[in-house]
Amino acid sequence: DDFEGTGVWRYSAALPFDDAVTIPEGDTPLHYVPRLEEGVGVNRLRIKHEGMNPTGSFKDRGMTVGVTVARELGVDRLACASTGNTSAALAAYGSRAGLQTLVLLPEGKVAAGKIAQAALHDARILEVAGNFDECLDIVQDLAARGEAYLLNSLNPFRLEGQKTIGLEILEEFHADHGRYPDRIVLPVGNAGNTSALYKAFRELVQSGALHPRDVPKLTGVQAEGAAPMVEAIENDADEVRRWEEVETKATAIRIGNPVNAPKALPGIRETGGTAVAVSDKAITSAQRALAKEGIGVEPASAASVAGLQKLVNKGVVSEDEDVVCLTTGHLLKDPDAAFEAGNKPEPVPNDTDKVLAHLEGKSGS
Ligand code: F0G
Repeated sequence: DDFEGTGVWRYSAALPFDDAVTIPEGDTPLHYVPRLEEGVGVNRLRIKHEGMNPTGSFKDRGMTVGVTVARELGVDRLACASTGNTSAALAAYGSRAGLQTLVLLPEGKVAAGKIAQAALHDARILEVAGNFDECLDIVQDLAARGEAYLLNSLNPFRLEGQKTIGLEILEEFHADHGRYPDRIVLPVGNAGNTSALYKAFRELVQSGALHPRDVPKLTGVQAEGAAPMVEAIENDADEVRRWEEVETKATAIRIGNPVNAPKALPGIRETGGTAVAVSDKAITSAQRALAKEGIGVEPASAASVAGLQKLVNKGVVSEDEDVVCLTTGHLLKDPDAAFEAGNKPEPVPNDTDKVLAHLEGKSGS
């Protein structure tokens, strides 16, 4: 079958189960990006492209564990709130497990590819007249009333699976370069991934497999219009203030109440990392820069590269650093954003000579 210790389940010793609902997931590429590396201005930059998971985002690593647990528990309805990717992953893994899935999405704020996935993988889709944080409030209520099993990143088993992103990065970077990356830069929404990577590193240190000085600095990036974690880091606050109004083109991280903040803030601080906010314009130009290296990502994913660039420009990240940027979701998740950021199709007559004349008359742009 699909199991056999591939991808996420290669690390089953670090995970709670060994018989999984798997598609399979994990084993994503750690791309070399020589031109982007030079453009950004660091010693070494590699891109861990989580968009290459089965449903096109890192959520699959969490869902394979979370849905396995749900099946084990014998629950009958799985539910999540989502900016899109979690719903796509839940729908796919829930279907594979033969379970009913319910997803609550903020109306009008979810990219087309993600809704298409939830629809085809047979989720019941509720469009809520509210933002993501409000969808999550409702799903938590439903779970508390025993109406559904919650599969957002508040579910600790999700984060167990997502730990394997960190394990893969350290293993592969070390195999290639004989050292560990100084820093891992990732987009932050609910801060689930930040928490998961921190847990993975703590466990490696506790088991003696990793020296504390080799733990990468966890560096979170948010969009300027949805940056409560950045605000907390900048103000050295113990708690994150919930933003009621949020806006960004990077709809995946259009989140004002990062529910994993209590676990993620120590992760950023204790690894010596930081958090930074970037504009939608900087996100789009990072998305184009990644695309020129052949790596197609959705806007939220490009935030990692935009954030790194900003930190290099500000002198917070020095040029001697070895950095890994996480790109969390695939380009095809958000085709509208890609059309908007990319070249426009040029209409031409159905005739070779006229096509040639067009090519000579005008450069594509
Ligand atoms: N990048 C992408 C593409 C995402 O979909 C998300 C979260 C994040 C980054 C942020 O990750 O929450 O662990 O800090 N998407 C969730 C969803 C909220 O519903 O798909 P985080």
